[in-house]
Order: sequence, then structure tokens, then C-alpha cells
Amino acid sequence: MNNIPNHVAIIMDGNGRWAQEKGKKRSEGHKEGGKTLEKLALYAKKLGIKVLSVYAFSTDNFKRSKEEVDFLMDLVIHYFNNKLNKVCDEGIKIIFSGRREPLRDDVLEAMDKIVEKTKNNTNCILNICINYGGQEEIVDASIKVANDLRIGKIKENDLNRETFLKYLYQDLPPIDLLIRTGKEHRLSNFMLYQSFYAEIYFVDTYFPDFLENDFDIAIEYYISRNRTFGNVKTN
Ligand code: FPP
Repeated sequence: MNNIPNHVAIIMDGNGRWAQEKGKKRSEGHKEGGKTLEKLALYAKKLGIKVLSVYAFSTDNFKRSKEEVDFLMDLVIHYFNNKLNKVCDEGIKIIFSGRREPLRDDVLEAMDKIVEKTKNNTNCILNICINYGGQEEIVDASIKVANDLRIGKIKENDLNRETFLKYLYQDLPPIDLLIRTGKEHRLSNFMLYQSFYAEIYFVDTYFPDFLENDFDIAIEYYISRNRTFGNVKTN
């Protein structure tokens, strides 16, 4: 495929409803979502996508029941310690975006371990957003900017939309294609700064069922768009 997007982001929504509609517990949906994520990461690498960002847990997801939060945290630990071997072996580098506080120590430990294990991989980046909020990221970056201004490391004139990027959790290229599965049409505080010119693709499919073929359709949608970046259309 030509014109493959450089950075694709996914709001992996609909795990709970996928399970509930099958008469299963919500946790079964998260488990199945984990399997889908693994498949898509491998597929993104195969297609030549440079960065895949995924929304695994928002700062607001802490409002869910303790049982569901604990299940999700245990699941991510299980994935980072045992399940992502293929992803690591395929040369995918895993990084995280989000606040560390108030994540559990065992979660942080598993995250740090997989970052260390994959730090020299160069085929594709899997940016996993955990305890992540887009507004929180901009606030956290602004605090770092204010500090650098105060200590004279930068001057006001040094600041522009590119240099501000360096203060975000990760220094990533802009999002080209943002996919949201699971019927809802909103951004839910996801990567607000990085998605400034993203093409947005909403699809009804619940995340566990969003497989390689559905990903291809999303990419084809992206390729069909005429991106003008504020300019006028040329054809
Ligand atoms: C949104 O669906 C999904 C989540 C809050 C969790 C996403 C987590 C995974 C895909 C599990 C694996 C993650 C890693 C990093 C291994 P929802 O629960 O809001 O679904 P609903 O809208 O149908 O209730």
C-alpha cells in the first residue's frame, strides 16, 4: 500500500459491550481486547507503520469499579511479563505515555521492564497510553516549560508548536490516522495535542473484533483523504 500513515492511534473502545452482548463478564472483553492489540501491533509493523499509539487506560478510568480497575492492571502486567514476547521479538519498541502516579508499583515495574527490554528495537514503536489524559499531558508539559523558562534554559521566543512537542510525555510524530472503535464519536481526552491534523475514523465494530481486515479498511479510508493542512484543495 502507498501513503501508509506514519503514526496511527487507536481508541480501543467497546471491550465491555463486546462481552456483555455475549453474556460474558466485562473482563472477558478486556482479555479479548488484549489479543486484538497484540495482533494489530504485529500487523502495523508488517505494514510499515512507524508508530502505533493505543489508549489502554485513561486517568478517568480510575472511576470504574475497583474490581474492573484491578482486573485491567493485572491484565497489563500479564501482557508485559508474558504475552508480548512475539511483539518484542519482531523488533517493536514499547514505550508508555501517562502519569505514573497513582499506578501500582507492580504495574510500574512491569512497564519499566518491557521498556528496558525493547529499548533498542527499531522496527516500529508501540506507544501504550496508561493512566493517560490529553489535557493532563498538556498541563504536565506546561509545568516543564514554565520550569525551563524560570531557570533560563529556554526563552519565550524558543517556544512554538514544534518545540512544545518535546515537552510531551513522548517525542512522537503527529498522528496521521486516529481510529475509534465501538460506536462512540468522541476523543475522550486522547492525544489532543498530537491529533491536531489527524484524519479521524469512527467504526461501530467493538475493539475485540477489530482485526487486520478492519485495520486495512481504516488505512484505505486514510489514503483516500485529501489532506490540506489548512491549505486549499489542489485537485
Ligand atoms: C475501553 O473499552 C477499553 C479499555 C478501558 C481497556 C483497553 C484495554 C485493553 C485493550 C486490554 C489490553 C491492554 C494492554 C496494554 C495489554 P470499555 O471497557 O470502555 O468498553 P465499553 O465502552 O463497551 O464499556
